[in-house]
Order: sequence, then structure tokens, then C-alpha cells
Amino acid sequence: MSLSLMRWASLFMLGMQASAISQISTVGAKFFNSSGHQFYIKGIAYQLTDDDPLVNTAQCKLDAALMKELGANTIRVYHVDPNGDHDGCMSAFEDAGIYLFVDLETFNTSIDQSAPKWNSTMLSAYEKVLDAFHNYDNLAGVLIGNEVLTRTNGSWAAPYVKAAARDVKAYRDSKGYRKIPVGYAAADIADLRPMLQDYLACSTNSSENVDFFSLNAYEWCGDNTFTGSGYSELQKNATGYSIPIFFSETGCNTVPPRTFEDQSAILGNDMSDTWSGAIIYEWIEEANNYGLISYGPSVAATATGTNIVGGFTRGGTPTPISPDFSNLKSVWATLNPTGVALSDYTASASKITPLACPAETSGVWDVNPTSPLPTLGQVADATGTGSSGGGGSSSTGSTSSGTGSSGSAAATSSKGAAAGGIVAPGSAGMTGAAVIYGVLVGFTGFMAWWL
Ligand SMILES: *[C@@H]1O[C@H](CO)[C@@H](O)[C@H](O)[C@H]1NC(C)=O
Ligand SMILES: *[C@@H]1O[C@H](CO)[C@@H](O)[C@H](O)[C@H]1NC(C)=O
Ligand SMILES: *[C@@H]1O[C@H](CO)[C@@H](O)[C@H](O)[C@H]1NC(C)=O
Ligand SMILES: *[C@@H]1O[C@H](CO)[C@@H](O)[C@H](O)[C@H]1NC(C)=O
Ligand SMILES: *[C@@H]1O[C@H](CO)[C@@H](O)[C@H](O)[C@H]1NC(C)=O
Ligand SMILES: *[C@@H]1O[C@H](CO)[C@@H](O)[C@H](O)[C@H]1NC(C)=O
Repeated sequence: MSLSLMRWASLFMLGMQASAISQISTVGAKFFNSSGHQFYIKGIAYQLTDDDPLVNTAQCKLDAALMKELGANTIRVYHVDPNGDHDGCMSAFEDAGIYLFVDLETFNTSIDQSAPKWNSTMLSAYEKVLDAFHNYDNLAGVLIGNEVLTRTNGSWAAPYVKAAARDVKAYRDSKGYRKIPVGYAAADIADLRPMLQDYLACSTNSSENVDFFSLNAYEWCGDNTFTGSGYSELQKNATGYSIPIFFSETGCNTVPPRTFEDQSAILGNDMSDTWSGAIIYEWIEEANNYGLISYGPSVAATATGTNIVGGFTRGGTPTPISPDFSNLKSVWATLNPTGVALSDYTASASKITPLACPAETSGVWDVNPTSPLPTLGQVADATGTGSSGGGGSSSTGSTSSGTGSSGSAAATSSKGAAAGGIVAPGSAGMTGAAVIYGVLVGFTGFMAWWL
């Protein structure tokens, strides 16, 4: 072989290595990459403003490099503009070995628990985001919604979430896209859990189920334990689940500094046989005080200037916030679950059957398990009959609202407090009474402020 041929060959192989990230897919209740290794998420919520954070290549490169140093392999983005050019950012993250979970809904197309519906305008907005991202190998999955249900009387919206997943999956398949996992990110509401979790995956026809379920949970604060935090209950109720499950937001900040001890449970022996990792809320420091990095000192809330919104600079060189950043880095460095090899799992995966659909319980879970899913264009009606179909009975739902649920106040948050949710230590897991303080909704609250 001539020298130049050798040089060409080695350049070619380098090129191959640099460009290929292995696609993620679901099998049974786990994620795998293309060589059959189980995939565990070490993720970061990444949304610098309400604008699409995946169009500024230079910014993405800066952030991706520091996330790689942190040990992250995934980001979660809540809002993108399907018309933007995402090539630069997606390759910046790919080069850093980082995958993306992206929400498909936009500010005005998310499903609303106070008036659930699912229609073709909404579906085509979701489709546009899928079209824009399907081709990236580091797209790990898409989300139908974030915390659509935050109140007991919101349970009638669950069939609409499921209908949206059904239609997005049908669209994905009709376009010949790879089987990009389609899932949902739930608020951690004791009254709705585990009914929602089970409901979204209970159909015997898998085309009508989400492909994964994820939970925004802030139960483990400060120095806590697997049992004391409530995680042991989450684990118990995820055992035997038929699809992958992970934490789509976590990182309680009520006891600073954050030590991220819960990662040792999630990615360690307690939970890694059932859960597929966690996404930490969040990258940027803002008024809610969940940041792992900042782009500069905070300024007056009214200050204006390049990249300044709400008193915080939203771009530039990321600087780790101490000691939270290094705490997370240290704990993640010790956690490298390998899980199960696909070759050892396939046979048992094929035997997994969905859990039963939860029974209808008036005022608690107002969804008839035998109703067909809503059709495209359906609107839930207040009588629970006629056009509401799978929507169940909202009249019972609203009657119950005074007693059953306590989450509603939390859903109306100001942006300053719009962090992921704040749950009193152990309360949601231990009392089951949904004693939920502060804000439940990661980005939903953020969006509410902007609208
Ligand atoms: C799949 O993941 C494993 C473990 O992280 C890694 O060693 C392997 O290279 C990955 N496969 C591909 C094709 O990248
Ligand atoms: C959402 O807003 C965009 C731009 O403001 C508009 O083009 C679109 O039609 C709206 N979609 C829905 C479902 O209202
Ligand atoms: C679907 O709902 C959205 C939001 O309410 C509305 O703007 C849009 O016109 C509806 N589309 C159809 C086809 O009814
Ligand atoms: C499964 O569900 C899909 C989507 O609703 C539907 O098109 C298909 O006919 C169903 N398959 C069976 C066997 O019922
Ligand atoms: C687990 O499931 C049981 C039975 O459905 C339920 O009573 C309990 O509240 C659930 N626990 C959690 C943490 O969701
Ligand atoms: C649900 O309850 C909240 C108050 O808790 C109320 O504002 C809302 O109107 C109720 N929604 C429905 C659909 O009944």
C-alpha cells in the first residue's frame, strides 16, 4: 500500500469515527444503541430562552464541550422552531457524544388539560418538528407533551395525549422514518400516578401506546435515601412496566448545594434494572436557581441587552456553578451501568405484556379504560358523552377538583419560579396526598409567563 493510500485510508477511518453516533431505539422496557448495548441517559435540560436553542452553532459548541466534561450524554429541549437550521448544533452535540430528546409541541399546539382536544393543526405542527429532526442520528426520542396533566381533574386529557402519540407514530412510519421513540413527560402528581403511567402504555395494540414514559420528579432533596425520598415507591410501581421509563427532570434544589445523590439510586443497583437514567433540570442559571452553569452575573430583572432576558444572560461562555456542577460531575463519574446486552434481553422482551389499563375511578381517574382513543379532530365535551369519546367524564372530574387534587395552584407560576417542580421532601412519594408546593411544571410555567 502506498503511503498516500494509507494516509487516505486512515483519514477515511477517522472521518467515520468522528461522524457516527449510534442510533438509539427501544426494545421491551429498555433503550439500546445499534450495537446492542443498553443506553442510560445522563441528561441536561437545555433551553436558554423561549427561542430555539439549537440554531446557534457557536453557542452549542461551547455548551456541548462543557457538557461532555460534565459527563452528560443527552440534552432535553422543550421548544424548537422547525423552520430553523439545526445542522450545526446537532453535529456539535453529536461530536460530543450527546443525544437529544425534543418536545414536538409548540407554544400554541400543546394539549390543554382544561379543554382537551387533538386536531390536524396540532398534528401538523408536531409533524414539522419530527420532519426537521428525524434525520439526525443523535435524536434519541421525541415528546408528545410536557406535564399536560397537572391536576386530578385533568385526567380526561390523557386519551388526547395517547391519541397524539398514535398519530405521530403513524406519521413517522408512513414517512419511512426510523422508529424514533415517541414518549411523554409527566408531572409528578401523586393523584395521577401511577394511573397515567400505566394508561399510556396499556393498549395491547402497541401503535396506540407511547414508546417510553418519563417523569419530572423532585422528590429527592438534599441528603436523603432511596426509601425516604419516595423513590422506592416509584421503583416498585415501575417494576414490570412494558416500555422504557426515566426521569425527564430531576434535581431538587430546596437543600443547597445540590449533591445529586439520587443519581446513585437511579443509575445504580436500586433502579437501573428498571429505569433508564435521568435528565437534570437545568443547564442555565436563571431566577429559579436550578442552573449548572451561568453565562455571566445576574443583572436587574428589567435590564435589556444582547442575550439578556429576565435578569440573566442567555448565551456566551458557560461557567460552571460551584459546587453543583462538580458535584454532578463527580457522582456521574462513578455511575456507569452497563445493564443488559440486547442479545441476552430479546427473548424476555418479547414476553413482556402491557399492564392492565387502570380502572375508571370517579373524581380520581376519569378515563374509561374501554373507550376508543379520540379521533383526529375530537374535542372533549363536558358531558363525557358524544364527541368526548375516550375523554371520559369531565363533569365528575370537575366535581372532584375541590377534594382530590392540590396541584392546580402550582400550575400557575411566574417565570421566576418556573423551575421544574418543587415537591416537599418525600411528600409526594410518602403521603400520596399530592402535597405539592411551588411549581410543578418545568417549561409549562415558563411558557405560561411568555404567553
Ligand atoms: C454502544 O454503547 C456502548 C457502551 O456505551 C459503546 O461502547 C458502543 O461503542 C456503542 N455502539 C456504537 C455502535 O457506537
Ligand atoms: C401557532 O402560532 C403560529 C405562529 O404564531 C401560527 O402560524 C400557527 O398557525 C399557530 N397554530 C395554532 C394551532 O394555532
Ligand atoms: C385546532 O386547535 C387549534 C387551537 O385551538 C386551533 O387554532 C385550530 O384552528 C384547530 N384546527 C382545526 C383544524 O380545527
Ligand atoms: C392498531 O392501532 C392502529 C392505530 O390506531 C390501527 O391503525 C391498527 O389497525 C390497529 N391494529 C389492530 C390489529 O387493531
Ligand atoms: C403505586 O401504586 C399503588 C397501587 O396502584 C398506588 O396506591 C401508589 O400510590 C403508587 N405509588 C406511587 C409512588 O405512585
Ligand atoms: C379543574 O379544577 C380547577 C381548580 O382546581 C378549576 O379551575 C378548573 O376549571 C377545573 N377544570 C375542569 C375541566 O373542570
